[in-house]
Order: sequence, then C-alpha cells, then structure tokens
Amino acid sequence: AYQIEGGWNEDGKGESNWDHFTHYHKNKIKTHENGDVACDFYHRYESDIELMHKMHIPASRFSIGWSRVLPQGIGQINQKGIDFYNKVIDKSLKEGVTPWVTCYHWDIPQALEAKGGWTNRDVIKWFEEFVEVCALKFGDRVKNWMVFNEPMSFTLAGYMLGIHAPGGAISFDKFYASTHHVVMSHGAGGRIIREHVKNANVGTTFSCIPIDGWKDKPANLEAAKRVDVMANRLFIEPVLGMGYPLHDLPALKHIEKYIHAGDEEKMKFDFDFIGLQNYTRWVVKNLGLVPMVHAINIKPSKMGHDLTEMGWEVYPEGMYRIIKQFAAYPGVKKIYLTENGVAFKDELVNGEINDVKRIQYLKDYLQQVLKAKRGGINIGGYFIWSFLDNFEWAEGYRPKLGIVAVDYKTQQRTIKASGKWFSDFLKG
Ligand code: NOJ
Repeated sequence: AYQIEGGWNEDGKGESNWDHFTHYHKNKIKTHENGDVACDFYHRYESDIELMHKMHIPASRFSIGWSRVLPQGIGQINQKGIDFYNKVIDKSLKEGVTPWVTCYHWDIPQALEAKGGWTNRDVIKWFEEFVEVCALKFGDRVKNWMVFNEPMSFTLAGYMLGIHAPGGAISFDKFYASTHHVVMSHGAGGRIIREHVKNANVGTTFSCIPIDGWKDKPANLEAAKRVDVMANRLFIEPVLGMGYPLHDLPALKHIEKYIHAGDEEKMKFDFDFIGLQNYTRWVVKNLGLVPMVHAINIKPSKMGHDLTEMGWEVYPEGMYRIIKQFAAYPGVKKIYLTENGVAFKDELVNGEINDVKRIQYLKDYLQQVLKAKRGGINIGGYFIWSFLDNFEWAEGYRPKLGIVAVDYKTQQRTIKASGKWFSDFLKG
C-alpha cells in the first residue's frame, strides 16, 4: 500500500507511521522522498490492473493500508477506504488477476504508533480489529490471505535500528517487545481470517536468506548459525509451535519478559502456506563486539560479487537452499515465493528499457524454484517483486525493482524488456 498508492491524505485516510516518518524525519530517507504520491495507484489502479491483464499476470499481491480503512487504527471505519479496496478487488477479478491480500505491510496508523505501535501489547487487539474489518469487508471475494509481510524487517529496521518507521534510537527492548507482539498477532490474525472467510487460503510471509560463514572458518560457521536464528528462525518457529529459538541465540531470552501466561498456545497457528521472500545471501564473520549475534556481514563488494542497486549479491542457488531449509519444518505444508526480484540501473533508450540483467536474474532464480519443486517440495507459486517500480522505503525511489517502469513526473508506465519476457513466459 504505502509503496505504490499515494493519496496519502485523500478521502478520509488517516496518517500512517510511514507518512509521519517520511514527513518529520526526512533525513532518514536517503533521497528525502516520501510516498505521498508514489505510483499514484490510488487513482490509476484501473489502468494498472488492465496492464497486468495484458501482460498475462494471473495474480497480484497487495496490502491494505490500515489507516485508509481505519484512520485512527481502531473505531471509526472510513467507508471511502473500504470502497477503494473493493474497487481494486473487483477490477482485479474482472481482469482475471486473482487478488492475494497482505493485511500488514509495515504501515500502522500513526495514532497507534504514538501509543508505542508494535511495542505496546494492546496492538494485538488493535490488529485483531483491523484484520476483522479486512476479512468481513473483502473476504467474500478475496480467498488468499497473508497476515504479515516480513515481520523481521519492520521489527528490526523500525524498532531496533530506527532506520525505518517509527525511527528513534537503537533499542533492543523495543525489538523484543515488538517481536513478541507480532508473533502473537500472527495467530490472532490467522484465526480471524479462518473464522470469517469461507474457503480461505491463509498464509503469512517471511524474509529469508541463506547464511554462510566467511571462508568456512569454525568460528564464522558458529556465527552463521546465530545470524540464521535472527534472519530465518525467530518468527516462524514460535508460529509452528516450536517456541522461540532461545537455545541457539541466548540474547533472545529478553523476549521472555514480554511473554504472558497462555501465550505459547496462542502463538501457534496452522497456516495453509508460508510465503518466502528471497533476494540474496549473507556471508558473516564472528565478531564478539557486535551485540546479540556477535557477528558482522562481509560486504558483498569485498568478495568481488556482482551487486544489485540495493548493494546485494546475486546468488540464485540461495533460493533453492532457503526453500529447502523452510520446507524441512514439518509444519510447513506449502510454500509460495511471495517476493523475488532485483534492482539494477535501468536505462530508457528510445522509449525502451532493455534490462537484460534483470531477465537473467529472474530466469536464474526461477530455475532454482523449479529445482526445488521438481525435488518434491510443495511449491504453489511465485510472485515477482515488483510489478511497478515503487517507493523502496529508506532508499527512496532510486532502486527500481519493477518489471514495469514508472516515470514519477508523468506517471507514465513503460513495460521493461523483463516485463515482456515475463509476459511471454506466463503465456507458456
Ligand atoms: C521486502 C519488502 O517486502 C518490500 O516492501 C521491499 O520493497 C522489497 N523486499 C525489496 O527490498
């Protein structure tokens, strides 16, 4: 929602934490930009969805802006916000593009953020109210649901490091508190969708990343195990009923003070599928000085790798490895790749963007998905991130991940060569 919609204060929408963060902490966005207008999807959803149809895209994943439907986070519903998502859903269905809805993609209403946001335990009931509104209003037509988008990203970048909304000083406590409340909200949200939506396919998504130890040195391999807990295991294991992986990362014991009696049971939820989002890998080195994980990432540039505009290593084999890692949990029934894609420098020449490197990246990663599928893993589908170039959070609009380019001055869309390739691929 925040990355593409724009219309940040239109038709009764309330302020979100990202509206607030980008307006009052401009310096935290590398380009000082914001999502006030973004791709103007709020006004252009019809032509954008028509374009998806034209490109044979069978499914589209988008999120509901919490402050668009509940401006203060709880209480009064904003009918115009509901109308907007109804129009998006109806148009998608009309064009043969199945809607896949994420409830929460990092934009909590500012009214709730001001009360501590995800660090406040009340957020579990606030979130339940929001999810119930989504399920009741859209569940007659939307069957595919994801409760969260990448919980690790917004708890870590937002509450621990302060480089995403809400910003603020480095805080481990806020990270532990928000982590537990998000874990609790997974189950809470999932149960509400199941209760209100007939034949719902309920999932949630996780960022995931294979972790290697620098030069395979024993201390670095141990460091890799600790980082793996943070990057891949922390959110999924309690949801699967395995509890927090405290044993493998002792610093996590601080979460315990936020756990109330009875929480362990409520943390569990039997998801129909898990969404995995993979882009790269990390290579790490043991370093005692670093709090919590006692490890640092080796800069991919130091290893001489080809980098993306996000500074990430291109590492297709990682896709296969991480799918295998998550598929090994007995509680994971089905996997969807809910995000994968890449930012490279795009050049517009005579009205065309010939992004051959992106095509190669997508082919190489898809090949690894296919390998996993052929190896017997239950893989339901794959979503490219992203359809449109969009607002890449603290990076601003500079990194472009779309297969369709957006000229932010004119809002003109240009299908990149990768978009044409993907469209042909989808056609079979
Ligand atoms: C993770 C997030 O879900 C999405 O919002 C972001 O744009 C991409 N990955 C790329 O960083």
